[in-house]
Amino acid sequence: MLGCGGFVGSHLLERILKDTDWHVDGIDIDSRKIDFLLDHDRFNFYTIDITEHEKIIPFIRGSDILISLTALCNPALYTSVPIEVIENNYIKLYPLIRYCSEYGCRLVHFSTSEVYGRTRQGILDGNSGDTGPEQYLLAEDATPLIMGPVHAQRWNYACAKQLLERTIFAYGRERGLDYTIIRPFNFIGPRMDFIPGIDGEGVPRVLACFMDSLLHGTPLRLVDGGKNRRCFTAIDDAVDAIMRILEHNYAVSGQILNIGNPDNEITIAGLAEKIVALYREIRPEDGRECNIVTVSARDFYGEGYEDCDRRVPDCTKIDALTGWRPKVGLDEALKKAITGFVFQYSGSVENLPENAPSR
Ligand code: UGA
Repeated sequence: MLGCGGFVGSHLLERILKDTDWHVDGIDIDSRKIDFLLDHDRFNFYTIDITEHEKIIPFIRGSDILISLTALCNPALYTSVPIEVIENNYIKLYPLIRYCSEYGCRLVHFSTSEVYGRTRQGILDGNSGDTGPEQYLLAEDATPLIMGPVHAQRWNYACAKQLLERTIFAYGRERGLDYTIIRPFNFIGPRMDFIPGIDGEGVPRVLACFMDSLLHGTPLRLVDGGKNRRCFTAIDDAVDAIMRILEHNYAVSGQILNIGNPDNEITIAGLAEKIVALYREIRPEDGRECNIVTVSARDFYGEGYEDCDRRVPDCTKIDALTGWRPKVGLDEALKKAITGFVFQYSGSVENLPENAPSR
């Protein structure tokens, strides 16, 4: 498992070790989120960078499956370090695709829902809000992938991810690579991202941004009014889906699969309000005000930011192939995520621990 120490990796690893008898070799440069699993007798952790291919090759040769999770996937990076984004999401991973093909190792690769870019309607008239599902549901093998101009560097990430998908597809067709590509739709849960200044630097994704504001008593910031929409998926649902993919080798080989929850769609403004309300319920002792303000995308992310307007997964394919359907509603998913953040980072909010535990 490459990237076993990240948000998705940590939850997937925990589930694999709990529910199967599989042996996992995990590779990452950071193990803080999986410290509680390091002593497990069916798990070995290796501190290896993904550029150290000669160290990774023996694992590819000796494993049944390579789960590829490493990515630079926080949008703030797309405009601040665009070269690193292209390198980490394409160039550094490309050789590993080749090795999987050469050594006959099945590849389960995590791509992104971001490859869909913007909706057709959003490009045409700037508003995808009032159209029917046939206009906005994103289907793996039918929906065109629509991105902005080159100077809008937000799309570098999606382009790099898309090119890797196309590379994997080509290796499948030409060289018989056994693969499955997963497109995650905004997974949320405990251990997601980081809180700036505590266990990471920079700007995390929206859930951690909002939790950072709540834990520090600062306003939640809506980029351009928070009009864009996302479908948030509970990490537990997502891990159920991934486990089915890992177990259904034949059915999902050579397939690209969305994992998301179309019923959990909300605008980011709506999300902010919901998170504030749930936080109040979970932590009534915090009596500080929770303000919500609007900031421009340029001020928040810098030049070159554009946004995906709306992305609702069509999940009929993964259902047909594996029988998976999401079960966890937005409130329940958020409650678990918020509780996880509060437990991990607080105690006394004024006195956040320097190295907050990952569990
Ligand atoms: C990101 C990554 O680019 C995807 O690759 C990844 O798959 C996806 O997250 C995910 O979690 O699955 P995005 O949904 O744009 O994509 O990530 P966020 O940073 O969570 O932003 C969501 C929305 O919230 C955007 O409209 C953003 O502008 C907005 N936002 C973010 C705010 O309004 N305020 C904030 O403080 C942070």
